[in-house]
Amino acid sequence: MTSDSTSAPLPRVAVHLTAGEAEQAMRADALAGLTSSPKTLPPKWLYDDRGSALFDDITRLPEYYPTRAEREILATYGVVIAKASGATSLVELGAGTCDKTRVLLDAMQAAGTLEQYVGFDISEATLRDALASLASQYRDTEILGVVGDFEHHIDRLPSGGPRLVAFLGGTIGNLLPHERARFFASVAGMLQPGDGLLLGADIVKDPERIVAAYDDAAGVTSDFNRNVLLALNHRLDADFDHDAFEHVARWDTDNEWIEMRLRAIAAQQVTIGGLGLTVDFAAGEELRTEISAKFRREGLEAELAAAGFEPFDWWTDRAGDFALTMAFL
Ligand code: SAH
Ligand code: AVI
Repeated sequence: MTSDSTSAPLPRVAVHLTAGEAEQAMRADALAGLTSSPKTLPPKWLYDDRGSALFDDITRLPEYYPTRAEREILATYGVVIAKASGATSLVELGAGTCDKTRVLLDAMQAAGTLEQYVGFDISEATLRDALASLASQYRDTEILGVVGDFEHHIDRLPSGGPRLVAFLGGTIGNLLPHERARFFASVAGMLQPGDGLLLGADIVKDPERIVAAYDDAAGVTSDFNRNVLLALNHRLDADFDHDAFEHVARWDTDNEWIEMRLRAIAAQQVTIGGLGLTVDFAAGEELRTEISAKFRREGLEAELAAAGFEPFDWWTDRAGDFALTMAFL
């Protein structure tokens, strides 16, 4: 790390999802999801500015183990990962605040390989802040940003390489199985032979601990979940009363994932001005806002292999709660 009192130039950020395009995509998702039975919304809309800040708070909750566990793995195996990857460019999907990223960047720096970092996220303001902070810390590294949806814009990455694509935090678990297959195939499609994928995945464990991690005593996850209704109010001119919904975290044994839902406390009608739509909720009706799948090594490696990746290694924290897996194309 170079400490220098002069400010670093702001990183270049390519925007492939403008505010207008995001609004249009949210409109399509809200129309499909709120008129289906059961009602659903894709988790990507949880991350407006407030949602991103609330997620950041979640990462520090005593019940929420994934962030601490993944940081421990990165701190322990980062240099091994950096050397084995042979990458000069680190591309991070769903980068968020780029907090754990620093552990990986430090490891690549220690390995003498770091030349470029590309952060990719749907949440523009959070990404820009995070990149500006990285740029002032890693002065000799090219820091770039891409604002986009990793389910649609993965082909828009700037050139560079050899690459290591990092997808940390367990965000892969927020995609449904068929979405994961499409996602892995699209990442494989934009990599060159020898490029790597570093994937963070939460491991199947005692459901009680998982439920506690998604239903914390301080109610931060409840605020994060209910914030999606405020995002709909703001972007789509809806009139959700977010206090009229309660947070639900439910473990699904068959699918080995936890669901976040919002349960209508009483029967209510919501108007979504931007869609010219009214939506009725029965008392107790639930809207699914996120799945967070938990993984077993064999299953995840099989999914990666199906997309053409060759699993290289699998590292866990000492408690065995969370895994980082690396695979090469
Ligand atoms: N990688 C960080 C942040 C995880 S939170 C960590 O490990 O702590 C999930 C991140 O993915 C958020 O920053 C969110 O804005 C981003 N995200 C969610 N869905 C996305 C999508 N479809 N396309 C791009 N970014 C997405
Ligand atoms: C970003 N993602 C991996 C988090 C998770 O654990 O599924 C989002 C989250 N939802 C509730 N708490 C945290």
